[in-house]
Amino acid sequence: MLDRFGRPVKSIRVSVTERCNLACFYCHREGEWHIHREEMSPEEIERILKIARELDIRKVKFTGGEPLVREDFVDIVARAAKYMDKDISLTTNGTLLKNFAEDLKKVGVRRVNVSLDTLDRRKYERITGRDSLNDVIDGVYAAMNAGMIPVKLNVVVLRGINDDELENMIYFSADTGAILQLIELEVPLERENSEFFKKYHVDLSDFERYISKMAEKVEYNELHRRKRYSLKINDKRATVEFVRSMHNTSFCMNCTRIRLTSDGKLKPCLLRNDNLVDLLTPLRKGASDDELKKLFKQAILLREPYWR
Ligand code: 5AD
Repeated sequence: MLDRFGRPVKSIRVSVTERCNLACFYCHREGEWHIHREEMSPEEIERILKIARELDIRKVKFTGGEPLVREDFVDIVARAAKYMDKDISLTTNGTLLKNFAEDLKKVGVRRVNVSLDTLDRRKYERITGRDSLNDVIDGVYAAMNAGMIPVKLNVVVLRGINDDELENMIYFSADTGAILQLIELEVPLERENSEFFKKYHVDLSDFERYISKMAEKVEYNELHRRKRYSLKINDKRATVEFVRSMHNTSFCMNCTRIRLTSDGKLKPCLLRNDNLVDLLTPLRKGASDDELKKLFKQAILLREPYWR
């Protein structure tokens, strides 16, 4: 189905919980800024994905909070696999990944994004509030060994915190075979002039230009319409992508996803909270598939490019 701007909706990003075992100081919390305790059950998530599938949405990415703090997360994925036949992935902080990578692969997770902003143990603790760097690195290797392809490392580049480590991270990408995804700090318009944003935001365009000159190969990632740079490092290969969403009109025009909050509301845009469509309340009151589908379509028609 197309939205009012002609953009197809092809994937859904499902937050399964707001809870997280880390507390990264810059986190946008997937745009969920209120605390709500209500979480959808695996059955409820399955029902919503079944409706999504009827609208030809066949890809899901699970997020949180931290999805792996939910004890029933493997069950959730197994249920999703019935409908989301094109892609199942998750974004995780990696701290618990070592224990779950094999099982997740078995029930249908194809690929994974691991948040990893630094390779320095003390800095990691400063950013996240927990001394868990080694667990995350074990998690990255466990995902690789389980055959998740690709494993991507999400690095939010923060001025004065980890912007001196990018070269090191590129070496880590070459060593592990994981794709490095360098992400610019992102905030809604009204926070753009905040001290926080001014202090930490790094514009990555210069660094991208520099990498493009060093790259041995530049591919185009159709899925995200992003360039992917390959760098030869000794006999290995590092792969780097950039995510620069602030004021990026083509980023929004290429957006083909809708979000579902952990308390069961469809969310047309990460950066907005004024146009959510509640699915869980009607679902719990016994709404039919047709009624839920109608609400789904309504949410798709509320999608608007944030930066335009
Ligand atoms: N800006 C950009 N990316 C962010 N993430 C979290 N907060 C922000 C932010 N303010 C990214 C992290 C994490 C993913 C879920 O979202 O990289 O991996």
